[in-house]
Amino acid sequence: TKSIRIAIMGAGTVGGGVYKLLQMRKSDMYQRVGADIEIAKILVKSIPETRKDVDASLLTENFDDIMNDDSIQLVVEVMGGIEPARTFILRCLNSGKSVVSANKDLIAVHGRELLDAAEANKVDFMFEASCAGGIPIIRPLKQCLIANEITEIMGIVNGTTNYILTKMAQEGMEFEEALAKATELGYAEADPTADVEGLDAGRKMAIMGSIGFHSRITFDDVYTEGITHITSKDIKYAKDMDCVIKLLGIARNTDNGVEVRVHPTLISKEHPLASVNDVFNAVFVHGDAVDDTMFYGRGAGEMPTASAVVGDVLEVARNIKGKCLGMFGCTCYRELPIKQIGD
Ligand code: NDP
Ligand code: HSE
Repeated sequence: TKSIRIAIMGAGTVGGGVYKLLQMRKSDMYQRVGADIEIAKILVKSIPETRKDVDASLLTENFDDIMNDDSIQLVVEVMGGIEPARTFILRCLNSGKSVVSANKDLIAVHGRELLDAAEANKVDFMFEASCAGGIPIIRPLKQCLIANEITEIMGIVNGTTNYILTKMAQEGMEFEEALAKATELGYAEADPTADVEGLDAGRKMAIMGSIGFHSRITFDDVYTEGITHITSKDIKYAKDMDCVIKLLGIARNTDNGVEVRVHPTLISKEHPLASVNDVFNAVFVHGDAVDDTMFYGRGAGEMPTASAVVGDVLEVARNIKGKCLGMFGCTCYRELPIKQIGD
């Protein structure tokens, strides 16, 4: 295989970054993965009259242009939302096309169905960008730390809310202004309610918990509380106590079952998470053999997220080239009791 043809569904913040990064690596792609990557089609909702950042001749509004093209072996889903993303991904997997997705809304609810479809069709389904933007965390959990019994995954996993809390604490910015800036910078979800109400972080915790605990945790199992009720007064009181307020995601696998929650938390200025600011995220993972590990980086934005998506694309390309399946061909999981946290 000299050249692998791919399609990108979605050309917004992330899709635009994926396109840009693939162009940046074009000249030495073969050296990296042993094949060139050729973008065959880019699906958008509506083709604008002028669009200069991507090759406009590749744009289509019709999913069947991708579905019916047998030369396309890999499809990148960066549209977002549940439908039509779920149907499109399932149709791709069921027709033998591998899929890379950044869609935590979908994976936190329908991840099992998508992984089952990938396994049944012997293709890859990868989703590194779905959790904590550019930070490598899915692959470490699934591959590098697989020998551990992981008991805790904890951290700051939403860039928008961390950006807002940082700006409120350090610059005295109002909540609404900070949210508007996060949106302008491409950090926020299409509907930022998901960010500020803790839903996005909850989805990521469900995905990471499922992978880390070899289990099945869906978004419904996660207790979520956002930052909309945090006022500048709260932030000042926290400061007075030498603390900061952070939105934390916590997933614990205890003897009494699995517990997953997201809520604002008062933490001491001395705590390592207190200095994770702006759009940066950090994830602690505790395993019985490795002890504590910490992963840090940009949790949202065009190029950091593209780094994770394109990383998956190249991994799948290697698998296609080597005629083998990646680690996500395996959908095994164990039933663990899940503790519901009361309202
Ligand atoms: P945007 O809203 O910027 O872009 C969405 C793109 O998808 C647009 O090009 C849009 O088309 C296209 N699209 C949406 N619905 C459809 C549809 N029904 N049919 C065809 N095309 C469609 O979103 P983002 O790039 O910010 O996010 C994309 C995904 O990546 C989401 O799942 C998000 O949660 C995830 N993600 C985002 C991160 C970020 O930092 N922004 C980080 C990690 C993950 P059109 O151009 O015509 O509007
Ligand atoms: N809206 C998300 C965030 C994007 O702010 O973290 C990255 O998943």
